[in-house]
Amino acid sequence: MFKILSIESSCDETSAAIISNGKAQSNIISSQHFHSKYGGVVPELASRAHTIAISEVVNDALYSSNTTINEIDAIAVTSEPGLIGSLIVGTNFAKGLSIRYGLPVIPINHIEGHIYSGNLQDVSIKFPLISLVVSGGHTALFIVKSYNDYEVLGLTKDDAAGEAFDKIAKLIGLPYPGGPAIDKLAKKGNPSAFDFPRSMLKSGDYNFSFSGLKTSVRYFLAKEYPDGLPEEKKNDLCASVQEAIVDVLVGKTKKAAIEFGIKKIVIAGGVSANSRLRTKMRAACDTINASMTAPDIEYCMDNAAMIGFLAEKKLMELGKNVFFDLSFRANPTALRAFKK
Ligand code: KG4
Ligand code: ZN
Repeated sequence: MFKILSIESSCDETSAAIISNGKAQSNIISSQHFHSKYGGVVPELASRAHTIAISEVVNDALYSSNTTINEIDAIAVTSEPGLIGSLIVGTNFAKGLSIRYGLPVIPINHIEGHIYSGNLQDVSIKFPLISLVVSGGHTALFIVKSYNDYEVLGLTKDDAAGEAFDKIAKLIGLPYPGGPAIDKLAKKGNPSAFDFPRSMLKSGDYNFSFSGLKTSVRYFLAKEYPDGLPEEKKNDLCASVQEAIVDVLVGKTKKAAIEFGIKKIVIAGGVSANSRLRTKMRAACDTINASMTAPDIEYCMDNAAMIGFLAEKKLMELGKNVFFDLSFRANPTALRAFKK
């Protein structure tokens, strides 16, 4: 059994966790809410904020789990993909701790971390499973056979699902991040009020595309409401947009589960907090006798616990010795690690 200190700083959350035996003993998340006034994450400000927060977040993770650094067996850190400046803050901090305390460092791919985030709370999850990772930066569907054996079934060709929520929210005049704002208003709206395209739902593959939806909402608003969207239409518009995104996510995930005969679906990433996605995915699972796990909100959003969880599996498989090489670099690109 190992005790791992994990660090996540790929975007706008500074997070640290203590993981042991697949369980999070602490999971501290410091969110950079100030980006909302700019309508999106400002990379330079994000890295500066990580620099300020990281020591305290790491100390908090140790303190709140009653752990001292001397009890730690290894450091885990998100090394890719993400904002380069933000990744560098986390990876350099991890390397610094490694040099100071003689600890191995396990670099982890952020999206791989998301894939297994459901396992943190649901120990009954068995492979194989279909994992849908949907966040502000990624939309990806995986078939996962074990902790080190997965394949990418599909990716977004343009905007990520969360990006679509955020950009459309901006068109409607809602604050950033747009996903939670749309989710909230949609609860009071009619999802069939307006008909928006379900892009690529019938494309026959597992790829996604969301930029067309954003464009059709823009045209719709310009044509139907040139003087601005009336307040009483907002809920219906949010519900209709959300339905279009959710239908595609659910449709493709269900198709994959059927094609590969898989009975477990795990959704992860910030968008997996969406209430309509959870409801419709669960209903879709019922129709094919499958079950769904959606992580608690703290494991849906970017968090260090999921990074530490996967690191522990790698450590158990490969041992400590291979992780003393500190020459790994922060890598902003998502796709590299996806190619098997
Ligand atoms: O995983 P995450 O915290 O960070 C990234 O790696 O991107 O995801 C953030 C994204 C944002 O786009 C946000 O709008 C979206 O997740 N999001 C939601 C909801 N909560 C967060 N989207 C739809 N419905 C929600 N309830
Ligand atoms: Zn993420």
